[in-house]
Amino acid sequence: MDTPGKKRVLSGIQPSGELCISNYIGALKNWISLQDEYECVYLIVDLHSLTVDQVPAELRQRCYSYVAQYLACGIDPEKSLIVVQSHVPEHTELTWVLNTITYMGELNRMTQFKDKSKKQKNINLGLYTYPVLMASDILLYQADLVPVGADQKQHLELSRDLAIRFNGKYSPTFTIPEPFIPKQGARIMSLQDPESKMSKSDKNPNNYISLLDAPNVIMKKFKRAVTDSETEIKYDENRKGLHNLINIYSAYTGKTSDQIEDMYVGKMYSDFKVDLADIVIDALKPIQEEYNKIYNDKGYLDQLLKEGAEKARYQARKTLDKVYRKVGFIKRAR
Ligand code: TYM
Repeated sequence: MDTPGKKRVLSGIQPSGELCISNYIGALKNWISLQDEYECVYLIVDLHSLTVDQVPAELRQRCYSYVAQYLACGIDPEKSLIVVQSHVPEHTELTWVLNTITYMGELNRMTQFKDKSKKQKNINLGLYTYPVLMASDILLYQADLVPVGADQKQHLELSRDLAIRFNGKYSPTFTIPEPFIPKQGARIMSLQDPESKMSKSDKNPNNYISLLDAPNVIMKKFKRAVTDSETEIKYDENRKGLHNLINIYSAYTGKTSDQIEDMYVGKMYSDFKVDLADIVIDALKPIQEEYNKIYNDKGYLDQLLKEGAEKARYQARKTLDKVYRKVGFIKRAR
């Protein structure tokens, strides 16, 4: 890290369920393509995941599984840092400082907080201040670009507002981050309920395709995906189920919606769904094979995380020292 002139990318995923194709299409796919041009830090945001009830042993295994899946999808540890958020305590330290310049009104407006509060019983303070921790993730590394899906746009705007506010109150300290949201695929919807987004924390596994789903499971889930009673394959926003499936098709093949429509003139929904399932099965096969090779090598994964945390902490400490100086704290003798 810290190559002069190289811009920074930072992003993260919450280990709150199985990684899904929506996380891949909305975020991970872009993480991979940005690795050559940018210095990248990719987080497993375990601190964030505590805002939802977790089974401790499952959480730990899931975090390892995420590291293995990041690698299997193509995150190259020679180019990018893979970091577990809790390994870098500066995240929580900076969060405290940012808490003091965040208005409650801003957090009250966060749609994700409002949605989650409706869905879960445990409406905890962490859930409420979650966007401040996310801002801290981003600002700590002076990130220029943050590749995310559309659902994170509002959180990212808060990160920008907090950076601007801090810089204005003290003096320029933080880089103002820009969102990087894909034009297509930024909002992949649930297979059974195309009115809501596909989510890895969904209780019903038929709503999502996990990156580790077996081929027969993927086929079954796509065949059962909700569409409508029409017959023509058309890319129409009002036909939400089909619209979503065409977006997934397009994300995995690079074909435009027009090309996909042309390919399926006179064909049936079932033909389209089977083809789509085959495309996703083929795309996930090499990822699953690679994953199976590395997931059980905990020694390798631990070593990688150790190196990631050490390098990340160097940058994180640098920013935090600067922040502590700007707000008027006494420099800690080392
Ligand atoms: P999370 O874990 O909910 O999602 C991880 C990434 O996947 C994207 N995504 C989607 N993209 C398209 N369609 C969908 N249905 C879909 N669902 C999820 C998300 O936009 C995200 O990019 N708060 C964040 C994690 C986070 C973070 C950060 C992200 C913590 N700190 C710093 C960027 C920078 C979250 O819960 O994402």
